[in-house]
Amino acid sequence: MSTVPHPSVSTQDQLKALAGRAALDYVEPGQVIGIGTGSTVNCFIDALAASGMAIAGAVSSSEATSQRLRAHGIAVLDANDVGELSVYIDGADEIEPGGCMIKGGGAALTREKIVAAQARRFVCIADESKWVARLGRFPLPVEVIPMATQRLIRQFAALGGTARVRLRDGAPLVTDNGQHILDVSGLSIDDPLAFESMVNNWPGVVTVGVFAHQRAHVCLLSTSQGVRTVVFQPG
Ligand code: A5P
Repeated sequence: MSTVPHPSVSTQDQLKALAGRAALDYVEPGQVIGIGTGSTVNCFIDALAASGMAIAGAVSSSEATSQRLRAHGIAVLDANDVGELSVYIDGADEIEPGGCMIKGGGAALTREKIVAAQARRFVCIADESKWVARLGRFPLPVEVIPMATQRLIRQFAALGGTARVRLRDGAPLVTDNGQHILDVSGLSIDDPLAFESMVNNWPGVVTVGVFAHQRAHVCLLSTSQGVRTVVFQPG
């Protein structure tokens, strides 16, 4: 682990911008890269555009990210038209010392996991508030097929979790894939790999927001002392 000092960084927005800029070191001109979703990733996209580095294009994890990329003149490519990506850059809602994450606060978890699976390396960009000893404080997002909602709420209750349908403007939020999100609080996720596999097997679950099979290889963690680079051991 190494830390690059940076003077007087304090607010969370500044920390997100710092992590976003640090990810430029993991991109090379001419590459096709994978790009996630969220406010930290937005900082990365803006920094990439400001850097003047020309990439061949990006595979995007959401409509929101695609819009931002296009606004900067960065080509958005179809995942099916490109092969393996050298790198996937994305944020996280929580990341633990093994590189496993909770993601989906922005409701983009399914496409995020798809693009992450297509990349050789997952670079997670996060501010220090996202670093946890164990996953589970952040309510776990789960993308679900609506007809399975009530049964899945009961299945999570049997694990001690309280699942709620995520709302937007008073109605269930509809994801880019036309599905709904459950946010599950009160879970204890001691074994992220096993937990992810188990929940993914429940009928009606599209994607669970535990990223253990697609965990991060590197985390660029911005702190008030600078960016700490955490390299995770291969699992
Ligand atoms: C999007 O669905 C999420 O997985 C984001 O990566 C996560 O919520 C982090 O978002 P921020 O960078 O906005 O905190």
